[in-house]
Amino acid sequence: METLGTETAFEVLAKAKALEKQGKDVVHLEIGEPDFDTPKNIKEAAVKALNAGYTHYGPSAGIPELRKAIAQYISKTRKIKADSDEVVVTPGAKPIMFFAILAWVNPGEEVLYPNPGFPIYESVVNFVGAKPVPIPLKEENDFRLDPEYVKEKITKKTKMIILNSPENPTGGVLTEEDLKVIADCIANRDDVIVLSDEVYSRIIYEGEHESIGSLPEMKEKTIILDGFSKTYAMTGWRLGYGVMRKDLAQKVAQLMTNSNSCTCTFTQMAGIEALKGPQNEVERMVAEFKKRREVIVSGLNKIEGITCRKPRGAFYVFPNITGTGMDCRKLGDYLLNEAGVAVLSGTSFGKYGEGYLRISFANSIENIKKALDRVSKVLKKP
Ligand SMILES: Cc1ncc(COP(=O)(O)O)c(C=O)c1O
Repeated sequence: METLGTETAFEVLAKAKALEKQGKDVVHLEIGEPDFDTPKNIKEAAVKALNAGYTHYGPSAGIPELRKAIAQYISKTRKIKADSDEVVVTPGAKPIMFFAILAWVNPGEEVLYPNPGFPIYESVVNFVGAKPVPIPLKEENDFRLDPEYVKEKITKKTKMIILNSPENPTGGVLTEEDLKVIADCIANRDDVIVLSDEVYSRIIYEGEHESIGSLPEMKEKTIILDGFSKTYAMTGWRLGYGVMRKDLAQKVAQLMTNSNSCTCTFTQMAGIEALKGPQNEVERMVAEFKKRREVIVSGLNKIEGITCRKPRGAFYVFPNITGTGMDCRKLGDYLLNEAGVAVLSGTSFGKYGEGYLRISFANSIENIKKALDRVSKVLKKP
């Protein structure tokens, strides 16, 4: 257990809640979930499924109709031919991370992963006794992962490369050119799999989402991880999936049998409606995030000691806070205690996050403005 890490967001949330209990007003910009409600048609589909008797166990890999809908969705959006038996449905997308690493990576092998990056990658790689090899994401490169660095760090022991685009926490987005270089690095390596975390694929502000799985010869070497949490504001429903080679899908389904048995069945029926029903709510949410992005980026750039780039995807900003003279953990605590604004330190996402904060803009413009005002006041030099 000592090798297993955690997600600091939940700890900061607990601290903020404790302050609120004491009567302090806190603006929550720490947790990574859309503040919107799940679209009505999806909720109604769940109610209908409950009433129709979807209250029992289902197949470990997911209900066939949902697996088919996911295969069609992935085939269309990633421009590949995905089949139902390549899909495994899980309670949230997160278990795919855990299961894919457990199924594919052995002790002593190496896994390349973005740093700063989603903390669970490093945690699970350590947990299985493998070696996490961080790929630093640099601000000057717009927080895109440098594919040349990936090239340098690949060894005989490399077993997996984890990619995340759009990226949490930086909002960086990989281009088709970046992905081609990475694909080239492993062109002769059938033992290396890419775990491509694409949970923010629909929350993108400029250009189009590119998946490494769409490149020639790469479908067989890629596990696409995606889900419903972010796209359809369904974080509490726990619904996600992985799309991968059939032999791997069978192993991941076996891990499902050994852990969860199956994903909640009426939730899965709602997932079919999410994918096949109208998509205008998704577009509305993304348009709103885009407006908030403008407010938060321009507001942060006016604050002493802070500079902030515009993220190209997801709903986080990753401002540089070195000008404040504080390290990121200290500043995070200071903003929570002095300004009543909950944010995460950059190092919650790995050691290369020092000098930054992660601020979620999945909150109303009114609350974002309130937070900016409070932060600006406590950081102003006397
Ligand atoms: C990059 C990334 N991947 C995966 C997840 C997990 O998503 P889910 O709620 O579907 O388990 C998150 C959630 O914060 C995330 O930021």
